[in-house]
Amino acid sequence: MLRVELLVALCICVSLAAARRSPQADSTEKWMKSIKSRYSDNVFEDALLDVPDLIRKYRYPVEVHSVTTQDGYILELHRIPHGRDANNVPNQKKPVVYLLHGMLTSSADYVLMGPGRGLAYILAEEGFDVWMGNARGNYYSRRHVSLNPDSKLNTAYWKFSWDQIGNMDLPAVVDYVLAVSGQKGLHYVGHSQGTTSFFVFGSMRPEYNDKIISMHALAPVAYMAHNESPLLQFVSPHATRIESLASLIGIGEFMPSNDFTTSFGSKYCRDGSAFQPVCSSLFFYMGGRNEEQHNATMLPVVMGHTPAGISVRQLAHYGQGIADGYFRRYDFGNRLSNFREYGSFTPPPYDLSKITAPVYLHYSENDHLAHVNDVERLYKELSTPIKYRVPMPSFAHIDFTYGINAKELVYDSVINIIKGYEGIV
Ligand SMILES: *[C@@H]1O[C@H](CO)[C@@H](O)[C@H](O)[C@H]1NC(C)=O
Repeated sequence: MLRVELLVALCICVSLAAARRSPQADSTEKWMKSIKSRYSDNVFEDALLDVPDLIRKYRYPVEVHSVTTQDGYILELHRIPHGRDANNVPNQKKPVVYLLHGMLTSSADYVLMGPGRGLAYILAEEGFDVWMGNARGNYYSRRHVSLNPDSKLNTAYWKFSWDQIGNMDLPAVVDYVLAVSGQKGLHYVGHSQGTTSFFVFGSMRPEYNDKIISMHALAPVAYMAHNESPLLQFVSPHATRIESLASLIGIGEFMPSNDFTTSFGSKYCRDGSAFQPVCSSLFFYMGGRNEEQHNATMLPVVMGHTPAGISVRQLAHYGQGIADGYFRRYDFGNRLSNFREYGSFTPPPYDLSKITAPVYLHYSENDHLAHVNDVERLYKELSTPIKYRVPMPSFAHIDFTYGINAKELVYDSVINIIKGYEGIV
């Protein structure tokens, strides 16, 4: 349903754009090729490369690992084991930082802005062993030992939300990363849904808290009562029915990775296209508006890697949080199904007081998806939280990953805190 709407909107955009194609497109391309920067040296190429190839292109070391969860989902991890310019020492034991992306994105979030800007590169240069996760169901983790994500007759593969990403993916990934790296604990950095999944993980699998040296929640999302995301607002009144309706017509997946968005981004959202401002508006609609931190030149790369796919239930579960104001497990919409699943007629809340790992909440005032009031409530319920407000009032949700000054405004303090734990100066 939603997918259709979005496609219609995009089609209208395509035809509009085709009609008013910019005459400057070719000279822009020449200009793009002539500039040398430490960001992206070719946005059209970067839009097409998968994460491991993108990392290789910028001459960073990369490893691809796969982990199978207890319930059979096969997840792909991307690792940058050491730096390129600084700390370029292979096979040396380094402190581990694990990065988990937000909703509809992938590990690409931490590298697509390029060396010097992407958090994964910055951490590798600072001497860390960097691991990037991909949540079940996204472009890189769309596999299972027996279930078929493409089946229209049976959407069993897609019967998960960020509850399972926290409860099932994260324990498997943390065990794996610690085993391979030979470390006893790691630092966790999540953005948006990557924080929600952590809060599920830390409260449902409290035995893992000892393995988390520090947790950094960029744009923390648990309570949603004040959420202002247009997409989630739209879903929220239908949140307990949307999944069963969608699965009736064989849909379990929402906004999968597709070539259409990629080619659309490179054709119509590039510098020199008269249509670029419309692309920026679409970007603000999804990620929050802040023109100061938005680099429109990067739109083709962002659109080459996003959306990366989620389950309908992920969206519905967030919608429920807006509708009922709780941070609790998925509501199946009727007492019997809830009872069968949880042994209670209503879904049990996540017990945030069980999270004993130190949690740093990096939040901002202009975040429509992680509203200050909701962050405040989360802060009160966690047992050992520390708050860091981004010192720029206009900083928005998506700026934590793609913002022009994300490094100076957020990453530098995250890295300082982590170095403090590791005794690195
Ligand atoms: C925007 O991105 C382009 C391409 O990566 C880069 O050359 C440029 O310096 C960036 N602009 C800012 C303000 O960071």
